[in-house]
Amino acid sequence: MTQRLRVRAVEIIYLQMVSRGSEREGRRRDMASSCMPFQLKCSALKKKPSISENIYYLKNSLSSAFMNKIQPFMMGKMEQVIPMKIDVSKTFKNTSDKVLDFLVDSMFEFVDQEYLPSQSNFRPVDELGGVVAVTSSIRGKIPDDFPEGVYIRNGPNPLFGGFKSTRSVFGRSSHIWVEGEGMLHALYFSRDGDVSDGGWTVRYNNRHVETETFKLEKQRNKPSFLPAIGGDSPAILAAYLLNLLRFGKVNKYYSNTNVFEHSGKFYSVAENHIPQEIDIITLETLGNWDFSGAWNRPFTSHAKRAPGSEELVIHGFDAVKPYMEIGIISADGKELIHKVDLKLSRSSFFHELGTTERYNVLMDFPLTFDINRLVNGGPLLEYNHEGYARIGVMPRYGDADSIRWFKVEPNCTFHIINSFEDGDEVVVWGCKALDSIIPGPDMASTQFGWLPRKFRPTSPSKENDHDTISSVDDGNLFSHAYEWRLNMQSGEVSERYLTGKRFCMDFPMINGAFSGVKNRYGYAQVVDSVASSASGMLKYNGLAKLHFEEPADVSLRSEGQLEEAIKVETHMFKENNFCTGASFVPKQGGFEEDDGWLITFVHNEVTNISHVYVIETKKFSNEPVAKITLPCRVPYGFHGAFMPISSPTYD
Ligand SMILES: [Fe+2]
Repeated sequence: MTQRLRVRAVEIIYLQMVSRGSEREGRRRDMASSCMPFQLKCSALKKKPSISENIYYLKNSLSSAFMNKIQPFMMGKMEQVIPMKIDVSKTFKNTSDKVLDFLVDSMFEFVDQEYLPSQSNFRPVDELGGVVAVTSSIRGKIPDDFPEGVYIRNGPNPLFGGFKSTRSVFGRSSHIWVEGEGMLHALYFSRDGDVSDGGWTVRYNNRHVETETFKLEKQRNKPSFLPAIGGDSPAILAAYLLNLLRFGKVNKYYSNTNVFEHSGKFYSVAENHIPQEIDIITLETLGNWDFSGAWNRPFTSHAKRAPGSEELVIHGFDAVKPYMEIGIISADGKELIHKVDLKLSRSSFFHELGTTERYNVLMDFPLTFDINRLVNGGPLLEYNHEGYARIGVMPRYGDADSIRWFKVEPNCTFHIINSFEDGDEVVVWGCKALDSIIPGPDMASTQFGWLPRKFRPTSPSKENDHDTISSVDDGNLFSHAYEWRLNMQSGEVSERYLTGKRFCMDFPMINGAFSGVKNRYGYAQVVDSVASSASGMLKYNGLAKLHFEEPADVSLRSEGQLEEAIKVETHMFKENNFCTGASFVPKQGGFEEDDGWLITFVHNEVTNISHVYVIETKKFSNEPVAKITLPCRVPYGFHGAFMPISSPTYD
């Protein structure tokens, strides 16, 4: 969900409010209809509405059918707040702010979303307040050839105790599971410890990413932005409008999805906003990264290093044209050296791009934003099972006209494992599902209406056989390792499941040195479909290692796996233990691609204790070489990364 997207929605709401109003307002309807293309076209330049503009629109709204619904609640009370005579020059802004606050406080009731016992580790935690040494809690041993650095993971940690819903005359609106202010959880590995600890010191810290809206709500010390994604369409539209009027933006900025490094600087990011620079030692938020305004649109959560270069390939999708733009950031991080509009005809939810040595790989799948659909009472974000799907291959510095598009089977793929050139072919490996886990579920009401069915556990004997699935929706949220081969000479496409359907996995990772070039190994978090369905939230009870160049065991293929299925090793956790943010750590001086470790946060839901596991990737099914107990709970979250830091200082 993006800022500009919501701005456009609010503009349309304005027009709809006006056009549906009284007879006098009917005259305005004609004007509004004729002005809509202009409004949409010019809205890219729209600045934050002035207070007087806000009040003007609010007055119009009050006279519309929309606001007639609230008049019985408001009339009379308004006069208690609005002075009979307003000294415009001195008090207008304060008064209008108070009016808007009063409107929201009167019309909307914030309600805490309930967390089920099985959702307890999705609850937020408090900030620790500083670095804590955890060296003494290590079971096992940090390997001698493990690099110094920081293992850091991002994830939602909503303010004020958890996700909220609102109740009002417009219905209900709710935060959904991908929202919540970002919190960074960092584990620092440094060689300044005692010999008895192998020379290692390990420290832990956590801290919120302090975006502009985080600071605003923190300063107000209460929930202020109305939830604006899940729930009833009228309530969502009302939330857009009131958030915009009060704060100049339709929703909060959640920097909660990933962390990356570029040119020695570190950033937190979510795809609804631009990256936030982070002091990697203190976790302090240092501010926006937008190249002096050169990138003035949403920014991907998965920026990609161009193979053979230190340049960074980025993208950002939006709900209005230009729906999708690609950018390239210079190696020193100071300049946006390339930016093009892909001229897509729809707004696809384009979570991750791929890079190869010469190309950018673009995933245009039928999970789309559509503002008109929202205004007409439908979902803003929807997956169309019958919509077209295609993968584009664009020269690194190409443009819309130089993209070669390949039609593929409709699917919903958020994450790419790797992409690379192989002779005449561009190969793309990803985690493919047949439906979207976003925007649902939300924790407020309807999650159990659809998630268990689309994510229904299936017995191993039935997982590979579509004929045994009773509904087309059953199991559609299972994501599987998948391959597309795009022939740049013939234009042909071949695609296949890499692991059959035995393994359901997502959040893939590889040795970063092989990003964009042919590789042999990949890793992913294994979905626990039973626990996920029971809790209505995704849980991962193990890790998988994919051997792209080795076939699966004959015994597995005879159980119904695909003939060409590749070998998969697993590292499963004990019951009631679930991981997030797994990342590959290359071994210092390692010679082979899989020389290294997976590192991941693991939470035990019985003991309510969180750990970090270090698992040797060459002995994947062995016990972790180190388990580090953390001083506080780490809620489940999104992406993690290990980033080397030389000679860190923590004083
Ligand atoms: Fe992601």
